[in-house]
Amino acid sequence: MLERFPHAPTEGAQGPLVRKAEPSPESLAAPESGIVEVFQYGRGRQGLIPLYVGESDCVTPPFILDAAMQSLRDGETFYTYQAGVPELRAAIAAYMSRHYGQPYEQAVGPFSPEQFFVTIGGMHALQIALRLVAGSGDEVLIPTPAWPNFHGALSVLGAKPVPVPMDFRSVNGKACWHLDVDRIAASITPATRCLIVNTPSNPTGWTATIEDLQQLLELARRHGLWLLADEIYGRLTFDDKRAPSFHDIMEKEDSILFLQTFSKNWAMTGLRIGWLEAPRALAPAVENLIQYSTSGVATPWQRAATAALEQGEPFFHSMLSRIGKGRAILHDGLYRTGRIHAALPDGGFYLFCAVDGEPDTRRLAMRLVDEANVGVAPGTAFGPGGEAFIRLCFAREPDLLKEAVRRLCLWLAREGG
Ligand SMILES: Cc1ncc(COP(=O)(O)O)c(C=O)c1O
Repeated sequence: MLERFPHAPTEGAQGPLVRKAEPSPESLAAPESGIVEVFQYGRGRQGLIPLYVGESDCVTPPFILDAAMQSLRDGETFYTYQAGVPELRAAIAAYMSRHYGQPYEQAVGPFSPEQFFVTIGGMHALQIALRLVAGSGDEVLIPTPAWPNFHGALSVLGAKPVPVPMDFRSVNGKACWHLDVDRIAASITPATRCLIVNTPSNPTGWTATIEDLQQLLELARRHGLWLLADEIYGRLTFDDKRAPSFHDIMEKEDSILFLQTFSKNWAMTGLRIGWLEAPRALAPAVENLIQYSTSGVATPWQRAATAALEQGEPFFHSMLSRIGKGRAILHDGLYRTGRIHAALPDGGFYLFCAVDGEPDTRRLAMRLVDEANVGVAPGTAFGPGGEAFIRLCFAREPDLLKEAVRRLCLWLAREGG
């Protein structure tokens, strides 16, 4: 910071002390995203196949956009409810009941609109959740490799992200990621406030079993920690059932915050809308945090989101089937080269793979832009344990993925290993 803002107090020309106003240390503490670096490098390249960004290439479907446009035409252009319009909160509660109702509602009670708070995407839900549970100097555990925004959002708060690396190993000849709960327990200190659990995981595709979740919940209960459950890819799975959720095992008293988003299930990344699920007792605090950050989400997007929940199942299922095809094309195509090590992801839409003979994945990602015309995200962006991997998004048109595989296989054959 001193290098960038080298203005220590000095004597002014007229005598009195002059101070240079400086940005807060927290605002400068967040690292630059390693994904953005490669993205910028590849920007504007003719014919590049961009697999670095985490989103589907489908445009938001018309029935969702129509709801937003109707809202605009109806003049819904005023300030709105800070926690979300009642119709959307009710639609979220009904959606959660349909997909996560059993056995949750027996143990905890019916989902209620009052436990859902509409936010500007999952990212804003994350920011609010972290503000609720961690302040300056507090520690938050993050199993890594992980979505870089966990680390960044904590850094700008002045809190301390504590990465806990997962293991990439082979079980019965099958590659997989493994979460070591003892390692998480050993990372807890008196300053630890929260454990983030992202399942299915971006970038690895690791998906917690009920037993994993049970162990993590017990650990959190024992140490009085918050759990921040990021289950945004929970329905993007490939075996006809959603991923296990903390909803399946929690009791009413458990301290769990869930972040969710419309971005991935309904191809709405650019509309920026999601939700935070929190114990109802926190409602005044959450509403204040919304008021003093965004003051709420634009009503037309909330109408669009309501349409997604109420009419969006056919679209969701067709997109999921396309994503499943993408997973097979990318995984099987690259696996055949014999130079790739990857766990077949159980959920999400990323292949996270190591390439034999290519340990420097930042350099590898740049080279793949230049020499294969394919954009991938370097594993260095995802924290400890991910450095030797690259992440490729397979929520893409199958023919485009086939072409990406063809280019990558050619590059691998040329480079020889
Ligand atoms: C694990 C995870 N959580 C949350 C988000 C937030 O998504 P958004 O802010 O688009 O809703 C993302 C987006 O990539 C993600 O990968």
